[in-house]
Amino acid sequence: MPANRFNGFTEYGVGIGLRIPHYRHILEQKPVVDWFEIISENYMIDGGRPLAILDQILEQYRVVQHGVSMYFGSAQPLNPEHLKRLKTLVKRTNTPWLTDHLCWGSVDGRYTHDLLPIPYTWEAVDTTAEKIRQVRDFVEVPIAVENVSSYAEFHDSVMTEWEFLNEVVERADCGILLDVNNIYVSSVNHDFDPHVYVDSVPAERVAQIHIAGHSRYEKYVLDTHDHPVIDPVWALYEHAIERIGPTATLLEWDDKIPSFEEVHREALKANKYLDKVRLAQTPQRPAGELTEVRA
Ligand SMILES: [Fe+2]
Repeated sequence: MPANRFNGFTEYGVGIGLRIPHYRHILEQKPVVDWFEIISENYMIDGGRPLAILDQILEQYRVVQHGVSMYFGSAQPLNPEHLKRLKTLVKRTNTPWLTDHLCWGSVDGRYTHDLLPIPYTWEAVDTTAEKIRQVRDFVEVPIAVENVSSYAEFHDSVMTEWEFLNEVVERADCGILLDVNNIYVSSVNHDFDPHVYVDSVPAERVAQIHIAGHSRYEKYVLDTHDHPVIDPVWALYEHAIERIGPTATLLEWDDKIPSFEEVHREALKANKYLDKVRLAQTPQRPAGELTEVRA
């Protein structure tokens, strides 16, 4: 396995999200899968079937935790009870890193359950980076923050989304979960070149990549995670790993979920691009070089 680049971020290969409709297939058929991503919030409970299933999965597979409600960009303080439950799960799964979104979604103790974009201001850089540090120090595992797709922008923003991401991860000294589908979706909605975004991120901080399918409407693109990955997103993925290097890659499929085989087949298409980059990085022996033979 290639060496870690930062904070123990290791090239895990190609994973898929662990979803309830696939539980039975996975436990009975034991398919070969490089790793599974779980939604932390689905398992931050005291007992019951989900945790029993997770323990069986953990016996056979590597699992990485992905969260949807940390809200690093919210102004209110972190929820200590949520953090305590998260840490309990981190110890159970032994996740090598922990991911959640660069967004806000809660105010005055109320949760929107949405991943809302942050105004890209220096004040938000400071508060967001501080929250990421607090979470990392509490759960004691490296953090990688994910760029979200967005459909609105703030007049208050003083920098681009990718400049904001870069400032936050430098100040928080954390990793990035680069969702290339989200970059593509936002590039269409806000009319920017997605390659400029991908080319700007600090490669050594990218822990993981998300790919997914989305829905296209007349005036905008919606991040629905209910389709195969479209060709322009695969092309952006290829561009990303050519620059960043082979990176743990995860296909998200959250709605109209097809069979396990279909989801896994779609995810494994990433290997076509990963293998190309892996091969390009393999040191080539100069022609005619003698090989030492030992008894
Ligand atoms: Fe994602």
